[in-house]
Amino acid sequence: MFLHRYVAGQCHVQPSTSFVFVVSKQKVNYPAGHPALPHTPHPAVAFLRLRQPSRSRLNSRSLKMLLSSVVAPPKLLLQFCISTLCSVWSSILSKILFWTVTVSPAVSRLDPSEAQAASTPTSVNYHFTRKCNYKCGFCFHTAKTSFVLPLDEAKRGLRLLKESGMEKINFSGGEPFLHDRGEFLGELVQFCKQDLQLPSVSIVSNGSMIREKWFQKYGEHLDILAISCDSFDEATNQLIGRAQGRKSHLDNLYRIRKWCQEYKVAFKINSVINTFNVDEDMMENISQLNPVRWKVFQCLLIDGENAGEKALREAEKFVISEQQFRDFLDRHNSISCLVPESNEKMRNSYLILDEYMRFLDCREGRKDPSKSILDVGVKEAICFSGFDEKMFLMRGGKYVWSKADMKLEW
Ligand SMILES: C[S@@+](CC[C@H](N)C(=O)[O-])C[C@H]1O[C@@H](n2cnc3c(N)ncnc32)[C@H](O)[C@@H]1O
Ligand code: SF4
Repeated sequence: MFLHRYVAGQCHVQPSTSFVFVVSKQKVNYPAGHPALPHTPHPAVAFLRLRQPSRSRLNSRSLKMLLSSVVAPPKLLLQFCISTLCSVWSSILSKILFWTVTVSPAVSRLDPSEAQAASTPTSVNYHFTRKCNYKCGFCFHTAKTSFVLPLDEAKRGLRLLKESGMEKINFSGGEPFLHDRGEFLGELVQFCKQDLQLPSVSIVSNGSMIREKWFQKYGEHLDILAISCDSFDEATNQLIGRAQGRKSHLDNLYRIRKWCQEYKVAFKINSVINTFNVDEDMMENISQLNPVRWKVFQCLLIDGENAGEKALREAEKFVISEQQFRDFLDRHNSISCLVPESNEKMRNSYLILDEYMRFLDCREGRKDPSKSILDVGVKEAICFSGFDEKMFLMRGGKYVWSKADMKLEW
């Protein structure tokens, strides 16, 4: 895994005067799980330690030069001016770096009332892995690391969340059934239902790795399984990248629908509306599959994930307009379980935990991480989640989410 380490450089004003003020950035390669990696990787501490002594050295040197300059010839005066300018510039530079590096952008935006409002993690989405076997071109949670927490640490974090008021957990990714062939996920599902007694435990998956054995072992502990399907045309799925090789995404979908019925798990569908499926009519298939909920998302861009220079995906060509999204919704408005999510509704209305159990703040159109709840606790980390509880309620985030309360006919 790559981390950026900040180191001090040297500035030479004249042969006898040098001081530390340049900060450079090195890319360091750590393997996943390396002891140098905290749950909250952060480079700023090293920078601060280096900054302090250099500043006092700088001031005493400047003072000496000032005294001598009273009687100095013009050449020395010029050197003094250069030195002073350098000193002022270094101070400005270090202040800028301090605020951009040490203070998360989310911190400076935080208003105390917001911090209060976001203090209960009622419904949490834990993306414990970023790895995936599909290549959806619009994907906004990409394989930037291959890190997964050890099982015990993940359980510790989930317990902290429960103690802070969590009622619903949703496991996502990456593809959550990929890590340890679904065993890691199964263990967490069982732990959340049996040990933590959470009212709702759900998963969102592409469905390609789910086997009947998994339902036999863990199905009873799972309330809702959401399978993502963006098209009922295999060729379109291939174009989107929602496929592994030539394997049929739709065969999996229908097989899983049947298992959900047999093993008493509520079945849900997620669809991302994009340029490739915006004109499709999904009425017949959705009616046939009869999910408890059909989430229909407008394709969203997230800087650093599926847009911008450092992104692993380029999703611009998938983006549709508000009007196109409304037209799709209008065409499907007779489907009563449809829950639409425009870009606006989606952005801040999810509490997202990444693979290090850091909350991700999406307010600025990118995913800014907090510190890990494993390092600082839920109360501190959640202040930097950017979570908008009003929007969460507006998008229908709170619904009947325990299968026991759904009154389903199995
Ligand atoms: C990131 S995926 C992870 C879970 C699993 N791999 C899957 O595809 O269902 C979680 C959900 O986000 C949706 N999603 C991915 N990229 C999106 C985007 N750019 N805009 C809106 N939803 C997106 C997926 O379709 C899926 O329903
Ligand atoms: S949206 Fe597609 S690429 Fe992204 S995690 Fe899910 S299946 Fe994988």
